[in-house]
Amino acid sequence: MEERIQTLLREVQDYKGRGKQAVESFRLKFVSKKGLIGELFEELKKVPGEQKKAVGKVLNELKQAAESKLASLTAESEESESTIPQVDLTLPVSPDIGNLHPLSLTRYRIIEIFERLGFNVADGPEIEDDWHNFSALNFPENHPAREMQDTFFVKKRGDGSDQDILLRTHTSNVQIRLMEKQKPPIRAIMPGRVYRNEAISARAHCFFHQVEGLYVDRNVGFADLKQTLYHFAKEMYGKDIDIRFRPSYFPFTEPSAEIDITCLICKGAGCNVCKYSGWVEIAGSGMVHPNVLRNCNIDPDEFTGFAFGMGIERVTMLKYQINDLRLYSENDVRFLKQFQSLT
Ligand code: DAH
Repeated sequence: MEERIQTLLREVQDYKGRGKQAVESFRLKFVSKKGLIGELFEELKKVPGEQKKAVGKVLNELKQAAESKLASLTAESEESESTIPQVDLTLPVSPDIGNLHPLSLTRYRIIEIFERLGFNVADGPEIEDDWHNFSALNFPENHPAREMQDTFFVKKRGDGSDQDILLRTHTSNVQIRLMEKQKPPIRAIMPGRVYRNEAISARAHCFFHQVEGLYVDRNVGFADLKQTLYHFAKEMYGKDIDIRFRPSYFPFTEPSAEIDITCLICKGAGCNVCKYSGWVEIAGSGMVHPNVLRNCNIDPDEFTGFAFGMGIERVTMLKYQINDLRLYSENDVRFLKQFQSLT
């Protein structure tokens, strides 16, 4: 009998069951009146007097071991029940997970196209000084081109600062920061947010996004600019798109051109978005002005470059036929959800 008690003791000590049901079957098997230990107590009555004391002692030890094991199993199972959340893991996942914003979709696509051409991605500050946003880009002091950009000023010169501090009006500031730090060859695109003091309407906003492009090396010519943007337009909008370069003016490029593509809202037939011309402007561009290179300590007799600046809202609008700029920043889920399948 003592041997059986020892075997049961080991069984009790090694019991590994977890959870409510396992605790209950442990109780029934060992601790309950009709359980194995109960049976042994019945048998004990028949054990001869002189052995009874010794057997009774180990049997009592077994009983105590079983009771304390039951207590610890119960405590353990209650604890795990309160920490495991009662969720049905077999339920299907809700399809209502978020998606990328259309401007992010466009930004990623633009980056993808230019990365394949060997362009890096660079970043710069949104709070900028006059030098990087204007002066280094060959905007003369008091030049009307500065007025054109409706700047938000953070701090005026003399106000504890030796130059104006402002919210950048374009991503061209990153061109300067890049050329100051890095010597040619430079081939980079620079996406980011820009700010202008404009009344908010369907066609204008006080903040929007641009992607700046810059390629500086020996023998970079206007043909490289044309071919690069031509390739971009075909990749972005498909082979049927037409593209044209229109002479223009920017202080930081010479010569300068604005780039138009076929209006994708009316397919060139004429509508209010393209002002009935069949063309929509998507970017400004040109050959980097020698003064800009000089301002960044790059010798314009050795190096040339092209640059462009593209509006991400505009590129997105043509891609997805969005006719109101305000939709981008109103966070209306009915608008945002339409881009779910493209994410
Ligand atoms: N910075 C110009 C703007 O915001 C866009 C632009 C035009 C950028 C010509 C360029 C460029 O890099 O070469 O209107």
